[in-house]
Amino acid sequence: MLTEKTRKSILDLQKIYPESRSALIPALHIAQAEVGYLPIETQQEVADLFLIDLNEVVAVVTFYDMFFEEPVGKHLLHICKNVSCMLRGADGLLKQVCARLQVSPGGTTKDREFTVIASECLAACDKAPMMLVDNKVVGPINENDIDRILEEAKKGPGHPSPIKADEVLHG
Ligand code: FES
Repeated sequence: MLTEKTRKSILDLQKIYPESRSALIPALHIAQAEVGYLPIETQQEVADLFLIDLNEVVAVVTFYDMFFEEPVGKHLLHICKNVSCMLRGADGLLKQVCARLQVSPGGTTKDREFTVIASECLAACDKAPMMLVDNKVVGPINENDIDRILEEAKKGPGHPSPIKADEVLHG
């Protein structure tokens, strides 16, 4: 169950937009920042706050890979698999990272430190092959860099929610 503060933030957010449903994506970020992911119960709560059908929320959550239906690790590794990165070895990079962490793409390590996500273009094609480590662009990457990148990531605070309620509402 979302806290009263989060519910109020989502309702306040709706007032910023001419059409309240335009606030759905930032509202989902706010809900995810509180819960850590978006289980179906949370999606239903958000749908109720928007007075829309649950299926509309599910469609948004399942379309964007920035929303998670399952719990994720403390650190997110978005590995780009789009054209520029693919041409420069993204497939191998993805396999090597997954092998190091003993997960499949989309999987989370047993210690819940990392989730590996194969992503579409992350708008850093000049750094191909690259990945987004939490909120930091890293690349070009070769096999020898992987252990260092993972160790450095562990020292960081973890993945941030890209949108926080206070920032949206109060600048
Ligand atoms: S194709 Fe990988 S960042 Fe654009």
